Amino acid sequence: MKLPVAGLCLTFLTTTTAFAASTLAPALIPQPQKLELGVGEFHLRPDTKILASLASLGTAKQLAARLRPSTGYPLKVHTKFFSDTAADNAILLTTRNARTNLGPEGYELTVSTHSVVLRAPTQAGLFYGAQTLRQLLPPEIFSTNVVEDFNWQMPCVRIEDWPRFKWRGLMLDVSRHFYTKAEVEKILDLMALYKLNRFHWHLTDDQGWRIEIKKYPRLTQVGAWRDQSSVVPPNPPETNAHPAWAEPAAGKFGPDGRYGGFYTQQDIREVVAYAAARHITVVPEIEMPGHSVAALAAYPHFSCSGGPYSTNAKAGVGDGIYDPANPGTFKFLEGVLTEVFRLFPGQYVHIGGDEVRKEYWAKSPDCQALMKQEGFTNADQLQSYFVKRMAAFIGAHGKTPIGWSEILQGGLATNAVVMDWIGGAVEAASAGHDVVMTPTTYCYFDHYQSTNHATEPRAIGGFLPLKQVYSFEPVPANLPAPDDSRILGAQANLWTEYVASLPHAEYMLFPRLCALAEVVWSPKDARNWKDFQQRLAVNERRLDESGVNYRRQTAAE
Ligand code: ACM
Repeated sequence: MKLPVAGLCLTFLTTTTAFAASTLAPALIPQPQKLELGVGEFHLRPDTKILASLASLGTAKQLAARLRPSTGYPLKVHTKFFSDTAADNAILLTTRNARTNLGPEGYELTVSTHSVVLRAPTQAGLFYGAQTLRQLLPPEIFSTNVVEDFNWQMPCVRIEDWPRFKWRGLMLDVSRHFYTKAEVEKILDLMALYKLNRFHWHLTDDQGWRIEIKKYPRLTQVGAWRDQSSVVPPNPPETNAHPAWAEPAAGKFGPDGRYGGFYTQQDIREVVAYAAARHITVVPEIEMPGHSVAALAAYPHFSCSGGPYSTNAKAGVGDGIYDPANPGTFKFLEGVLTEVFRLFPGQYVHIGGDEVRKEYWAKSPDCQALMKQEGFTNADQLQSYFVKRMAAFIGAHGKTPIGWSEILQGGLATNAVVMDWIGGAVEAASAGHDVVMTPTTYCYFDHYQSTNHATEPRAIGGFLPLKQVYSFEPVPANLPAPDDSRILGAQANLWTEYVASLPHAEYMLFPRLCALAEVVWSPKDARNWKDFQQRLAVNERRLDESGVNYRRQTAAE
């Protein structure tokens, strides 16, 4: 193993652009705001110390734990009370004397031949700096087993970094197919590595209710299970031959052989804590007033038709909408949300609102009577009435409601955030509402990654290659300042009608999620497709070491 040359002076190259040239620069994803490449390397050794200010001890221990499996080094964490300066053969993490203008998630990282200093105003900033540090090390650092006699070196660099957007998200649909707590936690680990910070958990839909609600036990007793895994026509056998395609794991069938699963409230608390330790906020989604077959299979009297409903129904079969003319519907949903508020400490609660099959409301005499009483002339107004009532309830509990584009129909609730998948961003932002961008053309990771479907696992349709994700600009061109500041950021959505296993989910997510991470973190004018492809080649080795089933760059478009 090569040892560092003690005392070698670090001379930073002055870069004329904000970024160092591609081949020499480390393969960081997302690209930092400012990076200067120095001369020489820092060598991590078994006796390297990790030093932390008292407040940063937890983040420092997390870093030590992350470096341990592959290096085998039991790196000691020491609290540094009196000094916050670099020390020989040490990695220092501190919030002292950090520049507050780096913002709540920014950091500065200086790697020199004899020391590493990571400084940030917050623990989130230190955490992101630690992710950069991991990526500066060789990809073998991500190995889950000890790599013997390895030279753990990182290039000398000076990095100043902060995110472009505050909402950097991923949505996972666990209703169409269920993902266990351990599977969700693996995804959270990968999100953190790429500095993503919002996990939108799509917990309910027509095909499965996945969150334990103590007040309404039938939601999971009935709503979490169905006869078959598949919610779409079975795959033709040749598409099942694709290496990414897999049957759901045996653990996703109950003792009676039915498919499904749900998270207990304890599971939820554990996932929320796991995410929080990685500076990820979990945004729960409880769908209403549509996409609610699973809930109505358990409690059919809250629907217009009264049922019967079955989670065995294929997508779109059965109206699956709540009855706004029944006061009990609102009491029920308020009871559900009251438990949701207690489980999720984050600010945002997602209430769906998309694709409501309002023709069923139009047919219902009770709904017609309600519309007459309220002076409504169309069913969009009924949708708005529903969403506004629930948004007011959420607001009264100090939380902020979010809904899909359709919550604009019939008039938007004053306190609502819009998640734009089919439009509405400009209208909402211009009216003073915050917006999260997730347009189908750039953010729907259930879409095919190739036009040659024979080479891909079966997907819902569409075509969303990596390059297109990378080209995404979250701020709509026709949204001028100052309203552009209403765009909180963007997220990828993985709907799972066709995705029954974690390896398949990983195949749909990676590397497209890496491209999205760069879109939401890095400066707009730093986007460089060729450079990104080069960094991805190194990143593929990281994913290999991490045991992630990603789609290879060499695969055909
Ligand atoms: C959606 O894709 N229905 C939000």
